[in-house]
Amino acid sequence: MKSHKSSPKRSAAIAAPVAFLLALGLLSLYHSAFSPRRYPRVVDVASSSSSSSSSSSGDAGTCDLTRGEWVPEAAGAAPYYTNLTCPFIDDLQNCMKFGKPSLDFVRWRWRPDGCELPRFNAARFLDAMRGKSIAFVGDSLARNHFKSLLCLLSSVAQPAEVVGAAEREVDATGRVVRRDFYYGSHDFTASLFWSPFLVRANLSNATIGMWDVHLDEPDARWAAHVASFDHVVLSGTNWFLRPSVYHERGRAVARNNNAIVRGSNLRELAVPRALRAAFRVALGAIVDADGGFGGKAVLRTVTPAHFENGEWNTGGDCVRTRPYRRGDRALGAFEAEYRGAQVEALREAEAKARAKGKGKELLLMDVTGAMDLRPDAHPSRYGHLPGGTVEGNFIVDCLHWCLPGPIDMWSELLFQMLVHQ
Ligand SMILES: *[C@@H]1O[C@H](CO)[C@@H](O)[C@H](O)[C@H]1NC(C)=O
Ligand SMILES: *[C@@H]1O[C@H](CO)[C@@H](O)[C@H](O)[C@H]1NC(C)=O
Ligand SMILES: *[C@@H]1O[C@H](CO)[C@@H](O)[C@H](O)[C@H]1NC(C)=O
Repeated sequence: MKSHKSSPKRSAAIAAPVAFLLALGLLSLYHSAFSPRRYPRVVDVASSSSSSSSSSSGDAGTCDLTRGEWVPEAAGAAPYYTNLTCPFIDDLQNCMKFGKPSLDFVRWRWRPDGCELPRFNAARFLDAMRGKSIAFVGDSLARNHFKSLLCLLSSVAQPAEVVGAAEREVDATGRVVRRDFYYGSHDFTASLFWSPFLVRANLSNATIGMWDVHLDEPDARWAAHVASFDHVVLSGTNWFLRPSVYHERGRAVARNNNAIVRGSNLRELAVPRALRAAFRVALGAIVDADGGFGGKAVLRTVTPAHFENGEWNTGGDCVRTRPYRRGDRALGAFEAEYRGAQVEALREAEAKARAKGKGKELLLMDVTGAMDLRPDAHPSRYGHLPGGTVEGNFIVDCLHWCLPGPIDMWSELLFQMLVHQ
């Protein structure tokens, strides 16, 4: 595995005062830029007082599931699974196995303002998915979510991994491009595609970890198969921070600020712009898929890392043992920008689909705010034995999420988007 120079994640924890002010500005944007319609809603079951000033929909019977707080789990409530009951937990997220000092992070549940988020119901999920398929497309956080879903389902059924020659394709970074898990009991397939840029990308110089990213071409490794899936969950952010030269129509047109391209006068394209273009193209590929895509496409938004007292490569760590309370800190400026780019991309793809008369269901799974409050739920040093590394390039992991843990909430949202509605 090559070591890449770019940061896998920018930490908001060391934000300078200026960045903090910027963050506050973006925070208000973050709140006002919501398109409530885009968010999963459930009937308000705890309708006492929706104190949220942000219930901008004015729709009394619904509730924005993405705005809320982490509250202590009811006494005696057990986590959905443990490292002993779920066989799918990757070592890198197996915080129980590697002795994370406090396991209190499993004792919180997400409570949206003004309603309850129902617990994940594996039996109902599998029943609803009978005869169907879902694809997760993205980077190691997409894999993190995928494994969380398999763990949630493991209380009811175990899948068999389907291994075919074509599916064992390995990309330039050593990752398996596609994995398929089949639930024979429910004729349901869950697939995972490694595609950290979502669009076509090629490691152009392994020595310096430089990428050629084709912002106008979906990554065919997943896009060529997308019509055969009922649902798709797209995500990705961190790889866009790696040194990249951006291509359009096959030609280099720009670079990001981490790419030093000697003897070239390529203009700089800000990372959020590239991110937005890539998501727009990926969503467009789903809308326009040959053979027609008839299901739901879900875009999961960026989740913050929580390195403190340093960055991922300068001794930063995440040692907190409690969630933040809402208002304890502002969302980092980077995360707010990346999230904004993803929301914009979804809107643009949707407008384009509508203009073409294609009424596809594009949904936003907005977990940015909720996960920003969970500095306590990363593996830190406890995702591997001492001396090991995460994804080949860092040691302390404040980016991925322990299993079980708050990442399981993403599938509670998924349940609302794919099953409840
Ligand atoms: C599960 O976690 C416990 C500690 O909670 C640990 O002792 C055990 O080795 C772990 N087992 C597996 C299979 O991860
Ligand atoms: C990827 O980049 C390498 C190095 O520049 C080059 O040799 C290779 O042909 C490229 N592959 C593709 C598919 O563009
Ligand atoms: C990769 O980058 C290094 C450092 O700039 C350079 O020395 C090397 O020639 C490059 N390799 C290729 C294949 O371009």
